[in-house]
This record gives sequence, structure tokens and C-alpha cells, in this order.
Amino acid sequence: MKTIIEPFKIKSVEPIKFTTDAEREETLKRGFYNLFLVPAEEVLIDLLTDSGTAAMSAEQWAGMMRGDESYAGARSFFRFERKVRELTGFRHIIPTHQGRAAEKILFTLVGGAGRCVPNNTHFDTTRANVEYSGAEAVDLPSSEGNDPDLIADFKGNMDTEALQRLIRKVGPENIPVCMMTITNNSGGGQPVSMANIRETSSICRRFGIPLFLDACRFAENAYFIKKREEGYGSIPVKMIAQEMFSYADGATMSAKKDAIVNMGGFLAMNNDDLAARARNLLIITEGFPTYGGLAGRDLEAIAQGLDEVLDEHYLQYRLRSVEYLGERLTAAGVPILQPPGGHAIYLNARKFLPHVPVEQYPGQSLVVDLFRVGGIRSVEIGSVMFGKYRPDGTLIPARMELVRLAIPRRVYTQSHIDYVIEVVIECFKRRKELRGYRIVEEAPVLRHFTAKFEPV
Ligand SMILES: Cc1ncc(COP(=O)(O)O)c(C=O)c1O
Repeated sequence: MKTIIEPFKIKSVEPIKFTTDAEREETLKRGFYNLFLVPAEEVLIDLLTDSGTAAMSAEQWAGMMRGDESYAGARSFFRFERKVRELTGFRHIIPTHQGRAAEKILFTLVGGAGRCVPNNTHFDTTRANVEYSGAEAVDLPSSEGNDPDLIADFKGNMDTEALQRLIRKVGPENIPVCMMTITNNSGGGQPVSMANIRETSSICRRFGIPLFLDACRFAENAYFIKKREEGYGSIPVKMIAQEMFSYADGATMSAKKDAIVNMGGFLAMNNDDLAARARNLLIITEGFPTYGGLAGRDLEAIAQGLDEVLDEHYLQYRLRSVEYLGERLTAAGVPILQPPGGHAIYLNARKFLPHVPVEQYPGQSLVVDLFRVGGIRSVEIGSVMFGKYRPDGTLIPARMELVRLAIPRRVYTQSHIDYVIEVVIECFKRRKELRGYRIVEEAPVLRHFTAKFEPV
């Protein structure tokens, strides 16, 4: 059959709230035009993030009941450890309460002033954790990744020539770890090819630099490799994922993505000495090494989710629903980052609203309008999130001005997606009326979470 269906039945449902135009306008005002400050109850379709927003399966909920809540040596930890080790091959598996906790531990240990961490593209929390340690975070996306309109198979790749130049420039002794984000979230949810992971790994090994995967969306990346990279079409996705991990020395993972759970993460690695120091830090900041900030039931749900995410019917449905959204928007002339990513569609706000200067945050303007028109919550990934200031106070804009429509796993059906398409097209029709925003209050780091805006 040609129709790709949701590979599940729905057993439990949660109502969503319909609001009037006036109610949404009031909500926007009360939230200072920052959708992070809007109560979720006021949102009709929540595409803020695919992180921690998944619907768990009956087996995962059953696992929650089976969770062993012993403080030390819980059965659930050993199941979790076995699953993660089987998948990644790493010796040390350290649970954390989410991805950034793994990053915090890793960069506290290996970061610091004078150090430099390359990545195909740092996610915001990764960058913040690197910089908080005093080290420099350097993005090295491939040139293809910089062109939002180019259709290419692996736009998430690392620029390996630039990586070698950076290593020679700063010296391998100042690069404690090289990161690789799969899929490349801030670069548009674009996949990284196996060839690129292999090549990055061999460069790192030549210079004695450990390679760590930021593995949040490893399964989506593996499925893209299966579909797009020569030689992988008939290989099971699990084996592709195992090969990806085999080129790395460790990983940070937010289980809130491809482990299909609402909370959790881990830090994994082969280095015994680093792992011992990571566990010591874990005890201070997260908890005992066999629970690390999670309940036994969470560890059960992660172990189960790691199996379910590798089901190829699931991955086919998952990537196709995102692609469908992208195709329909493209057909209506809406500018999106091409091709559709694994977990999200990224609207190209610079092209959508060419009359709004980057200093007035076109992405934020579009985020606000999607909510105003249809109660859809999205997130700006542009100069609000990544912009910096020069000493004279002028804005250094981000590389791209994007609005991400992230699709939670197993939560929305095709008719929800059809509604989203209708709303985006409506905003596109009225785009000339949209105006920019100015920031009236902001925090020194990760300002997008709490910044307050007003219309220009
Ligand atoms: C690529 C990437 N790395 C790291 C993180 C951080 O994970 P967490 O939100 O679990 O702290 C995220 C979260 O969205 C992510 O997308």
C-alpha cells in the first residue's frame, strides 16, 4: 500500500483547548510575546519542541510499574545499562536527568579556559555548557549546511577540512573533545552521513582527540543513512546505529528525543579515568551512579524506548510525516529550510518576512503570528537564540533566521499536521502585515527562554 499510517492505535487521549482570537491576543501580551512564557494549556498544537513531549507506549507505561526504585544497584539500572551498551558499545554508561546534565559533567571535566570544542553545530545548551566552562565552542558545518535552499542528502555534515585547519591552528592538546551532533538540530535537523562520521573519527584519532556524539536523534539519523547513503539500504537500522557509535569514544544523549521518554539522558564513554571522574561529579550533582537523577521507572521507560525507536515502521512514519509537512508548505510557496529534517520543519523567516530587519527578529515575529492565527506554538532559532552583541551594543545576527516546527513523537495525527499547514499558509498570505519585535528584558545566557519582547 502507498499510504503510510501511524504504526500504533491510540489508547489514551488528552483534550486540547480551542481559544478565541481575543484570548490568544491576551495570552501573547501576558507572555511578553515569548511563547516560552505562555501556559501550555493555552496552546492548541504545541510544536515548541520534540524534546520530552512524546507519547509513551503501553510497554513503556508497564515498565514504569516494573521500575525498581532501590537507591543502589536497581534492576532497572542494569536493564538500562544493557540496552545502552548493546546499542553504543561504550564501557561506561552514566545516567543523567537529561542531556544538558551529561554535557555539564563532560565539559566541567574537559573544558576550561584556553580549550576549544569543535562540533558540526552546537545545540544551544551544548554551546552554553562549553562556554560556561571557559572553553570556546566552534561550529564547523559543511558549506552545504549553510545554504537553506540547497537540497542535499547530508547537510548536517561536519566540514572536515575546517576541522583539520582548526586542530592545526589551536593545537590538538587544546581540543579535549570533538563533538558531532546527529542529527544536526540547530543546522535544521539535517542528518550526518556515515562517511562523514567515519572521516571525522579518523581525523580525531590521528590527532588523539576523543570524538563524542551528541546522540539525541541517533535513530532518525540512522534511518536517513539507510534511505540515502549507498550501501546501507538493506542493513537494519539498529546495525547502522551501532556502526555510527563504533566510530566514537563517547556520547551525550538526551533520552527525551530518540528514547521516546519525557525525561532522561546519559553520558557514555570508554575512557576509564574520565568515567571515574564523571561519576564523582554525578554523585554531587545528579545522584548515585545507578540512578543519576532519574527514578528506576524512568530507566525502564528509556530501555524500552530505545528498542521501539529502532522499529523501521515507526521511523518510516516519523520521517514521512515531517516530510509531508515540508512538501505541502513548499508546494504553497512557503520558504522552508530544504530538505525537511528528521524531527522538524524549519521556516526560513528571513525569506518569509524580508521586510523585517534581523535586528527586529523576523523569526520571533513569525512565532507570534503562528500563535495568533492558529494557536500553534513554535520556536525561533535565529538571532533571539544565537545573536550576540558587539561592544557597542549592536547585534551580531545568527547564521540563519529560522522558526522550528518540531513534531513530538507519536502525539499528533495527520489531521493535526493538515491544520498546521493551513495556519502556516494563512500567515504566509498576511506576511506583509507582520512587524518586528524588540527585546525589553533578557538574561545573560540562553536568553530566548525568558526574554520579554514588545512589538516595534
Ligand atoms: C542536539 C541537542 N543536544 C542537546 C540537547 C539538550 O538536551 P536536554 O534538553 O535533554 O537537556 C538537545 C535538546 O533539545 C538537543 O536537541
